[in-house]
Amino acid sequence: MGDPVGDAQSGGERCRHLAIIMDGNGRWAKARRLPRIAGHREGVEAVRRVVEAAPGLGLDVLTLYAFSSENWKRPPDEVNDLMGLLKHYVQSEINALHKNGVRLDFIGDWQALRPDLVDLLQRARTRTAGNRGLKLVMALNYGGQGELVRAAQALARAVAAGELTPEAITAEALEARLDTAGYPPPDAVLRTSGELRLSNFLLWQAAYAEYIVTDTLWPDFDGAALAQALAEFSRRERRFGGR
Ligand code: IPE
Ligand code: IPE
Ligand code: MG
Repeated sequence: MGDPVGDAQSGGERCRHLAIIMDGNGRWAKARRLPRIAGHREGVEAVRRVVEAAPGLGLDVLTLYAFSSENWKRPPDEVNDLMGLLKHYVQSEINALHKNGVRLDFIGDWQALRPDLVDLLQRARTRTAGNRGLKLVMALNYGGQGELVRAAQALARAVAAGELTPEAITAEALEARLDTAGYPPPDAVLRTSGELRLSNFLLWQAAYAEYIVTDTLWPDFDGAALAQALAEFSRRERRFGGR
């Protein structure tokens, strides 16, 4: 099969941090006349496949948009199903993730989720904190605008406490207060199911990310589709405003 890293990311710069907007679960279910939960269930299988394939394809950080701060607008039953699946995923995968050296982390206002979930997520995070393999960052109750508002509040508190002057508010000072502090910005943002919008995802961090869209619905996504997306990334020319 050859060298998977070389095959997927030959030539150009390597994508180290990929952020995925996992979209299309509902449409996958609808096409099969199944309830939306069936699509979300298959979506969890796609998460398993992608997390397994990611390190072999050269990724250091994989950020997954699992639940947005706007997804609370969905019917309570669907929100409940999503929370249940999140719990099931972490409970059933944590041993395998830990064994594979995955470091699990979360961004977004995840501490505002159900107490049983917060407890589970906190324990998973602590347990895998020392791991050296793939950094798997799940965006839970995440919204880019809310994250920036919280960072602005943290900066304002530091100024009010006399720890910071307004002039010391730099891009770096703000970045240090984002949920993603300590992670490199995503090299690419991938959205499945053909939708051409960011939906409040990593608004600051994706400033220079390559945007990749695939028509594949998330439940159909797998390692081969991931390799294809990374191959597309390797064909892009990044400029960062230079020439
Ligand atoms: C993505 O699939 C899952 C979440 C947003 C949690 P959707 O549920 O948005 O699927 P579509 O967009 O309706 O097909
Ligand atoms: C974005 O997908 C959020 C996640 C994938 C978790 P949505 O399906 O919620 O986005 P919109 O509503 O179509 O913009
Ligand atoms: Mg959607």
